[in-house]
Amino acid sequence: MSEHHVYVSQHPLVLHKLALLRSKMTEPKKFRELVREISLLLFYESTLDLELAPLNVETPLAGATGHELVETIGLMPILRAGLGMTHAILEMLPVSQVWHIGIYRDHETLQPVTYYNKMNDHTNVDIAVVLDPMLATGGSAIAAVDMLKGYGIRRIKFLGLLAAPEGVRALSSVHPDVPIHLAAIDSHLNEVGYIVPGLGDAGDRQFGTA
Ligand code: PRP
Ligand code: URA
Repeated sequence: MSEHHVYVSQHPLVLHKLALLRSKMTEPKKFRELVREISLLLFYESTLDLELAPLNVETPLAGATGHELVETIGLMPILRAGLGMTHAILEMLPVSQVWHIGIYRDHETLQPVTYYNKMNDHTNVDIAVVLDPMLATGGSAIAAVDMLKGYGIRRIKFLGLLAAPEGVRALSSVHPDVPIHLAAIDSHLNEVGYIVPGLGDAGDRQFGTA
């Protein structure tokens, strides 16, 4: 995939942990740990462009010029599977706003159905990050970005773990301004809309409901 705004991590730690995440032998507790760890690594890679301002601090020895982040960030985890990513990122950026959004895919049509929205009209952040481990048809991610843009947010990133080429193409064509950060792009979607080889159902595997 050659789109310039699609970033697939090549970090050895990500690749190592991703193989463990995919394995059907990985139990929910370990699966949640891996979602957390990979999300942290991808979030780190995806935030290289955050703006800084100079900050003067006093060390015990002398004055030093440091930096502080000046941009505000909002996280939009798509329930359920985005939850495991959120806690990881909140550890790194505890002041982020979190707007939970419930979207599931209709099993027959694969169309996204929104059932919960914890965003408010007065939200004002510099950057919003949509969190969902799986970008399959792309319908859920597109719906989430539509919603953010509807609230006036213009700088948006998508952070996922695995994608199908179909989902990357769909999200890129509807929202070409949204960079997509991933651990891998897999082969294809199967006839029921699952990513192959993928990892199965990310929500079920995190929460033990398979
Ligand atoms: C999964 C996944 C994404 C969506 C991706 O959620 O977490 O939100 O499917 O598929 P798409 O790109 O084709 O929209 P699911 O519908 O299984 O909901 P759940 O996490 O509540 O089980
Ligand atoms: N949602 C998942 O959890 N897994 C897939 O492979 C596709 C959508």
